[in-house]
Amino acid sequence: MESLFDVKGKIVLITGSSRGIGFCLAKGFCDAGATVVMNGTSDATLKDSIDTLKAAGGNVFGYAFDVTDEKDVARNISLIEERIGYISILINNAGIQRRFPLEQMPLDDWKKVIDVDLNSAFIVSQAVVKYMIPRKYGRIINITSLNSEAARNSIGNYCAAKGGLKMLTKSMATEWGKYNILTNAIGPGYFSTDLTKSLQDDPKFDEWVKSEVPLQRWGKPEELVGAAIFLSSEAASYVNGHSLYVDGGWQACL
Ligand SMILES: NC(=O)c1ccc[n+]([C@@H]2O[C@H](COP(=O)([O-])OP(=O)(O)OC[C@H]3O[C@@H](n4cnc5c(N)ncnc54)[C@H](O)[C@@H]3O)[C@@H](O)[C@H]2O)c1
Repeated sequence: MESLFDVKGKIVLITGSSRGIGFCLAKGFCDAGATVVMNGTSDATLKDSIDTLKAAGGNVFGYAFDVTDEKDVARNISLIEERIGYISILINNAGIQRRFPLEQMPLDDWKKVIDVDLNSAFIVSQAVVKYMIPRKYGRIINITSLNSEAARNSIGNYCAAKGGLKMLTKSMATEWGKYNILTNAIGPGYFSTDLTKSLQDDPKFDEWVKSEVPLQRWGKPEELVGAAIFLSSEAASYVNGHSLYVDGGWQACL
């Protein structure tokens, strides 16, 4: 049974993994015996995270690049393939928020969120599948959101990006399935990370989360590891184009 969920020795690239959900996924894959390539916007932000996982015995590498920069992405993916080996699993996790009421949202903040939360998954995946296609093997996981399904005030840019990412997941699954590249999404509910710090610190929002979610609490980032390992392993060999919501049951109830 254990071998069904085995990811030992596989190389996994996780974008935006210097902290938060990406970091917890990196730790989870290290603990499962995978080789993890971490990514963030600068070497400085990555260093401490890499050191932490190395100290715990992880086989970890770090490549700093901006996931929205097509040339930087292509150069770094080629370096990873050359120096570390075949990327078997790609997790498109990098993401940002810029909160404004829609009617006041500056165009720059609209575009920036679409760029980081949606366009980057296309850019990084296209650079990685170039290597996956000839090998006829790959797993891609896009980190979406409850906002792929339902909107909330002041994050119209994020909702549009995450809704788009859900459909991009289905497009990748449709077009790349024939190469044995499986693409799925994980949609987290509300998790305690830097991205949601202002929401956690708002007593009304915190109360709202706890009253709406059947499990009556925020998710812990490490609670996403199981879903990511499942979708990366042989256990999910016929799962393609699916969105797996890890939300404490939020979507199950009105
Ligand atoms: N925290 C939640 O409740 C929650 C809920 C649903 C979805 N998500 C999604 O999960 C993902 C991770 O969120 P988080 O809460 O860990 O956020 P976070 O802010 O803690 O971490 C985001 C990471 O992305 C990186 N990043 C940002 N822009 C980048 C760029 N241009 N290039 C490379 N790296 C970049 C940051 O350096 C950081 O490491 C995001 O896609 C987010 O939308 C989070």
